[in-house]
This record gives sequence, structure tokens and C-alpha cells, in this order.
Amino acid sequence: MNMREKAMKVLIVGSGGREHTLAWKISKSSRVEKIYCAPGNAGIEEYAECVPIGVLDFPALTAFAKEKSIDLTVIGMDDPLVAGVVDAFEAEGLRVFGPRKGAAILEGSKAFSKDLMKKYGIPTAAYENFDDANTALAYLETAKFPIVLKADGLALGKGVLICNTLEEAKAGVKEIMMDKKFGTAGNQMVIEEFLTGREVSVLSFVDGNTVRIMTSAQDHKRAGDGDTGLNTGGMGTFSPSPFYTKEVDEFCQKYIYQATVDAMKAEGRTFKGIIFFGLMLTEDGPRVLEYNARFGDPEAQVVIPRMKNDIVDVMEACIDGTLSDITLEFEDNAAVCVVLASDGYPVKYEKGFVIRGLDTVKAKEDDGYYVFHAGTKRTEKGIVTNGGRVLGVTAKGHDLKEARANAYEAARWVDFENKYMRHDIGKAIDEA
Ligand code: AMP
Ligand code: GLY
Repeated sequence: MNMREKAMKVLIVGSGGREHTLAWKISKSSRVEKIYCAPGNAGIEEYAECVPIGVLDFPALTAFAKEKSIDLTVIGMDDPLVAGVVDAFEAEGLRVFGPRKGAAILEGSKAFSKDLMKKYGIPTAAYENFDDANTALAYLETAKFPIVLKADGLALGKGVLICNTLEEAKAGVKEIMMDKKFGTAGNQMVIEEFLTGREVSVLSFVDGNTVRIMTSAQDHKRAGDGDTGLNTGGMGTFSPSPFYTKEVDEFCQKYIYQATVDAMKAEGRTFKGIIFFGLMLTEDGPRVLEYNARFGDPEAQVVIPRMKNDIVDVMEACIDGTLSDITLEFEDNAAVCVVLASDGYPVKYEKGFVIRGLDTVKAKEDDGYYVFHAGTKRTEKGIVTNGGRVLGVTAKGHDLKEARANAYEAARWVDFENKYMRHDIGKAIDEA
């Protein structure tokens, strides 16, 4: 078969803005004929046939992939990766992009990732792991504040508590370990030193040995302007980060990226897929705050539109161990994504409101405007809101300021009842 022939069938697993961005990018591949998405959303439908299979239903996913002769499955989300979806596909002889269960633990257990960093000298905040609430409470008596408590397992980005006082921290330990607010994610916890500095997200492709860094990005995790309010899945992003300087990059190349990939290999947990490095640029240099084992959401919405490579080539190189043959290329511009949420997110919000103006943004894709669906659904009334984070409106610009102005302009073209957004996405760039 001519490898450039448009003959591949791809299955994407997930249903958010990240998966919409992946579906859009994969649809641009010169090799892809047909895309399926499980379960998908109303935006993904434009590029993919969406099938109602749950992301944790591995028998149904693998049966579907076999039935449709899928050539490549791309896992967007953390939960199925941590639960072993890649192992399930491989056991059926199916090609799949993402880390196996034994490697996805890099995201799935914060205690594991902290111990890995300590063992291999990868710079991170000082910490202790606990599997018993009383020992954790006793430790707090002599700790310095503020201090950071982290539930060990996956908790939708909400299992991290920054505590200013002993009282708050004690209440936090109780929430995580005794009341099990984050479920089994709180069977163990990490207590770590509070760091200050700029946060940067750096995503990378990894083939087990080689790591290729993508352009940098920054998320805005709090719900409200000025970084106030509750933590969310992410309210907006910009890329590149002006704070990710050449100096920072050199440090991370030397002490963090390759060191992490080598450490995983040395542990018998060879990592293939995406490693997302969540970094804090402290006065003493970059420190790893966390690892994720997949694209960020909404980091993907600003990084992928700037990527020049055919993403299917890069994913296949990760699977085949040939990433060293690939040079990643990104456009020399900037992108900003503003998340349009339902008012009340992340606590309580209504769904089912008709969304207007989607076509206005779509008509301007060639000018660098995109609308990526997160929580939407197609109904008889049209496309309606169906989640806390509803849409991600991304716009490019020659520089970050232009991209931000464009993104906020496009955010006005789309409307629905109870529409909520932050107004200061990318404001930090004014200080760069
Ligand atoms: P994580 O899920 O580990 O990235 O934590 C979520 C958020 O909590 C991060 O994006 C940071 O804003 C904050 N955070 C995590 N660890 C620390 C730390 N050691 N010091 C200060 N802030 C932190
Ligand atoms: N935006 C942060 C994440 O995807 O975890």
C-alpha cells in the first residue's frame, strides 16, 4: 500500500474539546480516510462518525475497532489510559496511541510520580507520601505554611488543596483521606512544599526513548477573573508562553524531559504517547508540579492548531519507536483559547440552551478562528449546551496580543443563555 494513500481508519476515544481538536487535526492528515469517535460530541460529528460507546467499556471499544478494521486508535482522556485501555487494545492486536497502564501511572498516581522524581533527581517540590490520615495529621503539626495537599489518584484536576493554615490543612486531610471527597483517589496522599512562580504546560510526544517537545502553553485553572474562585478543568489557554525562555528550555531539556523518559524506561514502564509536563518556573529554576499522560484540555486547543506536522505520522512514530526521525514544527505565531462555560460551573449549572453563532466562527477557519466543542449535544432544536465547559473558542494572531483580541472577538460571535467566560485569559502576557 502506498503509505500516503488516504486509506486509514482512525478511532478517537473521548468527548471533550481536546478530542474535537484531535479530530479536526486528524481530519487534515493526508493518510486518513475515515474517523470514528467514541462517544464524541456535536462538534466532533463534523469530522467523525460518533458511536455511543463509553470510554471505559474496553470490550465494546475493542470489538468496535475490530469490526471496523480500525488502523489506529487515539486515546484522548486520562481515565481510560490509567485503567489500561491501551493494554486491552494491544491484547487484541490493535494499534493504539497512548501509554500502557504501567506507564500511565505517571499521571494516575501522584505518589508514584513524586517517588520517581526523587529517585532520579528530577526537580520537584519537597514532599512526603501518606497512606494513613493520622500520620498525615501528625506531620502537619511541624510543617510550614502554606502547604499543598494532593489526593494520589485522578480527581478531575480538583484533588489539589492549597492550605494557608494548620486548621485548613487538617480539614483538607480529613476531606481527602477520611471523608473520601475524591473517592479512592484519596486512599493515599502527597503533602508537598508550596512553590511560587509562573506555571507553564509543556506537552511532548514520546516513543519510549526519544522525547519531542511541542510549543509551550499556559492554562487558567481558576473559575474567576484574576485567578479567583474554584479550580476548574481549565478556563482558557495561550501558546506559546513568553515565560518559557530559551534558558528555561535548556534547563528542562537537561534535567526534566529526557530524564523522565529514561526513568520510566529504567523502571520497566516504557512510556509511549504524550507526556504533559506541568512546570512551575520558580526563582530556583523550573520544577515539575505534575505529569499528565495525555494532551491537556484546553492546552490542545492552542497547541495543535499551531502544529505543522501531519499528527498521524507523529503518533505512528511514537508507536513504532521512530520519533527520532521526526522534527516537530510549529507555526511562528500565537493562539489563545477562551472557554465558554455554563454560568455556575464548576459547581452547579443548567444545560440544554440553544447555541447560536457557531457557523460564524466556522466560516472563518481559514483566517485562524476555531470553535472546539466540549459539552454540546445535537437536538431537534439545534446544538445545545450539555456540560459545564461548553465550547473553546480559539484564535490565532501574529503575536499573543493579536491572538487574544481575536479570540475575545470570536467569543462574542457565539451566544447561549447563561454563557460565562473569564475576561483575562492571556493577561499575564502583558507582564512579559
Ligand atoms: P496539579 O494537579 O498537581 O497540577 O495541581 C493543580 C494546581 O495546583 C497547579 O496547576 C498549581 O496551580 C497548584 N499547585 C500544585 N502543586 C503546587 C505546589 N507545590 N505549589 C504551588 N501550587 C501548586
Ligand atoms: N488543562 C489541564 C489538564 O488538562 O490537565
